Amino acid sequence: MEYQSGFGNSFETQAMAGTLPVGRNSPQRVAHGLYAEQLTGTAFTAPRGENRRSWLYRIRPAAMHGSFTPFAGARSFHNDFGDGPVTPEQLRWDPLPLPQAPTDFVDGLFTMAGNGSAAAMQGIGIHLYAANKSMAGRFFYDADGELLIVPQQGRLRIATELGVLEVEPQEIAILPRGVRFRVELPDGAARGYVCENFGAQLRLPDLGPIGSNGLAAARDFLYPVAAYEDLEGDFELVAKFQGHLWRADIGHSPLDVVGWHGNYAPCKYDLRRFNTIGSISHDHPDPSIFLVLTSPSDTPGVGNLDFAIFPPRWLVAQDTFRPPWFHRNIASEFMGLVYGAYDAKAEGFAPGGASLHNCMTGHGPDAATFEKASHADLSKPDVIADTMAIMFETRAVIRTTRQALEAAHRQRDYQACWADLRRHFAP
Ligand SMILES: [Fe+2]
Repeated sequence: MEYQSGFGNSFETQAMAGTLPVGRNSPQRVAHGLYAEQLTGTAFTAPRGENRRSWLYRIRPAAMHGSFTPFAGARSFHNDFGDGPVTPEQLRWDPLPLPQAPTDFVDGLFTMAGNGSAAAMQGIGIHLYAANKSMAGRFFYDADGELLIVPQQGRLRIATELGVLEVEPQEIAILPRGVRFRVELPDGAARGYVCENFGAQLRLPDLGPIGSNGLAAARDFLYPVAAYEDLEGDFELVAKFQGHLWRADIGHSPLDVVGWHGNYAPCKYDLRRFNTIGSISHDHPDPSIFLVLTSPSDTPGVGNLDFAIFPPRWLVAQDTFRPPWFHRNIASEFMGLVYGAYDAKAEGFAPGGASLHNCMTGHGPDAATFEKASHADLSKPDVIADTMAIMFETRAVIRTTRQALEAAHRQRDYQACWADLRRHFAP
């Protein structure tokens, strides 16, 4: 696979020589009989540092398709969050079971929770996917937000208008709002997490005193090169618009962009390249030190969405309880586990599983982890290997869907993992 490197860079790429106009965007006639089309991801007048748009040179413009009607499939994929009381209880789920019937990526999406709305252009949707079949004759785009896709099992080959991304577990893909794509499953069964970001686009966080390097590096974000398909047939275009799905007939593949230039494009990132920073004295820093990407809100320093990971790392802090401490936060935390085991829980949090700790809900290590870490030999460093946990953290409460609360894979006894914390108080 060939990629271009650099988060938010302005790229130019063409699958056929001479496609891109030189020194202009919209010549009277585009080379090779192509159409020019602009795709903007920010307001025309957004500040230069945030302005995102690309120019696409394609066989047919995106306007060409049949009428949209409500889509009958993917009934578990929507933005109906909190359609009932929102519980403050700690919540955890087993992995979403893999489907038995043939199910593609779109049909395999299962909405767990979310906040805000596509209409307000703030908040997020949190979805799981479990699929066993490549999308065939079907293309999808999400007008409601950008998609942060986190595979947990099985590779995804994501063919987009702007080129092809191949992502495997421990990598992520970011698909900008509106970009059309098809997901193929080279390994068959596939499962993972999707965060749908209604707010400002994800970006690399400022590093402050960390300096000019550290955490996720811009050059490790990889963008596709142009790759088009020239296909005609009875295809289907599925759109997510204002929380629900629509479909239209389309007589050709919309993945027909022969060349493009700009800075609004899908990308991928290998989480194993994250430069993890931690304490070399005592205590450990707040978990904001694990921030990969952030979608800022209109309040400085407060994220609409913060995407953090808990990767392999050394624990060397002295006179310190080394696992995550007990805590309650104003922010709300939805966690997943891509690989291995999570260091704050001895059992019950499986790869593909999920947990949700909402605003001011107390949580932290389970009883077994607390006992072990309280008596660990701190003269030696601990290494946390073979792990990759992820977190979608938001300023607003994460409202579960009814289907997530009622799901068979919800662990209704999750609370019990703290029941064995013993009283140690000895006045
Ligand atoms: Fe937490």
